[in-house]
Amino acid sequence: MKITTSAPGKLMLFGEHAVVYGRPCIVTAISERLTVREGNPIGDTRFLDAAIALWGKPGMKISATSSFSGTYGFGSSSAVTVAALKYIRPSASNRELFDAAYKIILDIQGKGSGFDVAAAIYGGTLYYIKNKIIEPMNIKNMPLVVGYTGVKADTVALMAAVSEKMKAQPDRVERIYDAIAKLTEDAKVKMVEGDWERVGRLMDFNQDYLRDLGVSSEKLESLILAAKNAGACGAKLSGAGGGDCMISLVDERNRKKVEDAITKAGGQVIHIAPGAQGVRLES
Ligand code: MEV
Repeated sequence: MKITTSAPGKLMLFGEHAVVYGRPCIVTAISERLTVREGNPIGDTRFLDAAIALWGKPGMKISATSSFSGTYGFGSSSAVTVAALKYIRPSASNRELFDAAYKIILDIQGKGSGFDVAAAIYGGTLYYIKNKIIEPMNIKNMPLVVGYTGVKADTVALMAAVSEKMKAQPDRVERIYDAIAKLTEDAKVKMVEGDWERVGRLMDFNQDYLRDLGVSSEKLESLILAAKNAGACGAKLSGAGGGDCMISLVDERNRKKVEDAITKAGGQVIHIAPGAQGVRLES
């Protein structure tokens, strides 16, 4: 029987970078998916090859197609790895999938908190602490707007820059991470309550700390400012920084205004739904 599997992309909502250093983050799986089926692979096959080497049989041929561009920072590496492992071993538990996929990501990329792997497997919106907690959150109707900067972030380089900063100014960076952890805990509560005004303010605070950390960019700042000036509850970069996407929370009556402002500032609005289902067998 021929099977197909798919796994969702993700957006980091709170806690990027700090999560690499043991603090919590909040991530949501998105409606854009990556699909794996039988066939000759094309493009970057590193993750497919690693999945076959770990769980598959030699000579196995699987290919991946994506409903989203790999440049958005939606986590295509983790989604393809998870979908491929599920394809090879459909009966694997989520825990087995996580351990195998996280190992592959670390082997290939060298670093990473695994939050994107968790999102691809479990779906929904998750509170995540590396090697400790993967906790589903019950979130309804998150009014999220996403703007792409047009610039692909170099996650590995940004993580290395942050790690250098940590060596140079450990106390300062630890304080930033503690502050991000505190606001992430607050966001966890307020998101479940659906208090988007407050969650938006917390996004603003998170963005202040990310700017301090040196991972924002002019383009991100101009899209964030445009969203805020158009009445968004709050806005921040999402992911490693330097490019990729910014996210914003809006009062639904303001959505169009905020989206137009992001477009006018040179961003590309991407329509996705948060809280998507995790990895699944399609057929
Ligand atoms: C990158 O999308 C988010 C980082 O926190 C890295 C990671 O958690 O793996 C910078």
